[in-house]
Amino acid sequence: MTNRLPKIIRIGKDPTTAELKNSLRKNEIPLKFCYMGQGAKCWNNLRESKEYKLGDKWVYILEKTLPQVRKRLNGEDYNLIHVGPGNGIEIPSFLGSIGLNGKARYCGIDVSRDMLELAIESNRDTLNQKNSVWYQSDVESKGNLERIAKGIRRKYSERSLILLTDEGTLLSNKSIFKELYRALGKGDYALITIEGDNPEKRGEILQTYSLPQTLKILSVGLRKAGYDYNRGSFSFSFNERRSRVEVYFNTHVGNKLLCLASYKPKKEEFFNELKSFGFDIPYFKFHEEAWAFSVLLEKRDKNVQ
Ligand SMILES: C[S@@+](CC[C@H](N)C(=O)[O-])C[C@H]1O[C@@H](n2cnc3c(N)ncnc32)[C@H](O)[C@@H]1O
Repeated sequence: MTNRLPKIIRIGKDPTTAELKNSLRKNEIPLKFCYMGQGAKCWNNLRESKEYKLGDKWVYILEKTLPQVRKRLNGEDYNLIHVGPGNGIEIPSFLGSIGLNGKARYCGIDVSRDMLELAIESNRDTLNQKNSVWYQSDVESKGNLERIAKGIRRKYSERSLILLTDEGTLLSNKSIFKELYRALGKGDYALITIEGDNPEKRGEILQTYSLPQTLKILSVGLRKAGYDYNRGSFSFSFNERRSRVEVYFNTHVGNKLLCLASYKPKKEEFFNELKSFGFDIPYFKFHEEAWAFSVLLEKRDKNVQ
């Protein structure tokens, strides 16, 4: 039987054991180590579960936002560069609302090959070798996103919409904003959706992170780092200074490891931060009812190639 899955191109190096060891010295396990192998299935289980309240929120936010984004694109053909598509659950919304016209392509980028395979499989009726390209790449690593975006622009449509949706954990690493800025070209936009802080809903916000399905994802990274998640306990807190949820694993030998951080900015803080990275912000919406943001960004220097 022939394998009809589109090809996955590797850009840059996979996260290495040396990187994990380095992080462990700082008592951290980067979340990207959790999404590979069994971790992809664990994420799929969480994303599909009824208890994952954030899931419904993202459907709602995308429905509200994508028509606004479409207006901005002014009928031009935009590639959809989707960073961290997970199991591909958002793809039908993007294809339905924005679509792919002319030379435009869908481009999925994920650090986890297993995750890309899930996204490809679940969208095989609409995406194929002709209209999609897939990259296994670590976007936290300097230059990878820019390299991919440049290649896409050169080969397909000249303009791209970079999608970073439901990516509070990825955006807790501030270097992503720099990588995104570098990757934007002339006429490009980036769309970010992210849950914000709501001091009255802290209990509800933290609850998502203590779901058994979430802890199962974290167990993958812990195992890679040599820890058994049954021999220790998790703790959950909100770091006010850094505006983020933090999940720690307290090992049976008394170490406290940060294994998840998810950025939950306040309105003004987020706006100012985006400005400080150099972005122009043609659309900035805080959805009070869902305490979540949808934001469209452009590069300030519009003459850039
Ligand atoms: C929280 S999930 C969100 C998935 C999707 N946006 C959704 O809403 O279902 C994060 C996704 O980003 C990917 N990811 C995490 N770190 C990454 C990195 N450094 N480079 C590329 N992809 C990464 C994960 O593998 C996963 O698919």
